[in-house]
Amino acid sequence: MSAGGTLVVGSGFVGTAVARRLAAGGEPVAVASRHRPGHLPDVRGVGWHALDATEREACARLVARLGPRRIVLVHGPSDVTWCEEHPDLAVSAHTAAAAHFAALAGGARLVMISTDNVFDGSRPDNAEDAPVSPANAYGRAKLRAEEIVLGAAADAVVLRVSLVYGHEPAEAAKWLNFFAACAHRLLRGESLTVPQDQWTTPVLVDDVAEVTAAVLHAGAPLPPVLHLGGPDRVSRAVWASTVAEALGAPPRLVVPVPRAATRYASRPENACLTSSLLGRLPATRSIAVRGVREGARYLAPAFTAAR
Ligand SMILES: NC(=O)c1ccc[n+]([C@@H]2O[C@H](COP(=O)([O-])OP(=O)(O)OC[C@H]3O[C@@H](n4cnc5c(N)ncnc54)[C@H](OP(=O)(O)O)[C@@H]3O)[C@@H](O)[C@H]2O)c1
Repeated sequence: MSAGGTLVVGSGFVGTAVARRLAAGGEPVAVASRHRPGHLPDVRGVGWHALDATEREACARLVARLGPRRIVLVHGPSDVTWCEEHPDLAVSAHTAAAAHFAALAGGARLVMISTDNVFDGSRPDNAEDAPVSPANAYGRAKLRAEEIVLGAAADAVVLRVSLVYGHEPAEAAKWLNFFAACAHRLLRGESLTVPQDQWTTPVLVDDVAEVTAAVLHAGAPLPPVLHLGGPDRVSRAVWASTVAEALGAPPRLVVPVPRAATRYASRPENACLTSSLLGRLPATRSIAVRGVREGARYLAPAFTAAR
């Protein structure tokens, strides 16, 4: 990457989509993570760099070498269950990376992708001014990182994003998002037992990338915290039924059950974000964030084409 581009720290599900979107807009983009991701060589214009973001000197060397004008923090650990089992490691990873890049950003805009897990899940919606109260170890780690980034970087924005979904290939070792897992299993004719009482505001990964790109390039000043949730608040069961409908799968394959009977038993009732500011900011107000029906119709051909 030549100086003046964007450094994306994290090359997973969300980071790759952000890098793709930025490269499609013609800007120099570099992504960094500990292991080379198998899927990146096909993303034109994106270079990958080995980096453990918890190592201060390694972050400093990379920033000095690339001279980014914009930095996105979109690294892990992102697995809620892993973070619950390793709470100290989760906090130290997120806070170390936040502190290093906040100190190194200088005049670069620093956007940290955060989560609805900074809320306890008791309220059906959370706008930017809702009081934080993390639901779990993952939420505590991310909240602490938010505080560091906002306290130490000159031009930082925390973009809290609700549950993200998008296409993943059938042959992926593990599907990272609920939509992809539902779609592949429905297309195999498997039934799904899904909570009827866990609510979310899902957002398509392409829309996350679009909003992130706009926030990175927006003229200053921006509010320090922005929320990005999809326009629909749905239970996982209703969402899975929407996926089934878009794929033409039999509706009976979706079996709604109480959350307590599923692997989501320990998760909060609500994982929802209300975007009260994005629609008012000049940089983002024209972005139409898709609802679950539109998102399912958009993604369905990618899932059915591979079969
Ligand atoms: N997916 C969602 O629904 C969602 C919603 C809201 C917020 N977010 C936030 O978005 C971020 C990314 O989520 P994701 O779904 O894209 O996760 P993901 O697919 O698990 O990707 C995480 C990425 O971070 C990298 N990483 C982990 N530890 C690192 C380290 N110490 N140094 C450098 N890179 C490291 C991983 O690669 P290596 O292991 O090779 O380093 C991987 O590329 C997370 O911070 C999460 O809080 C995600």
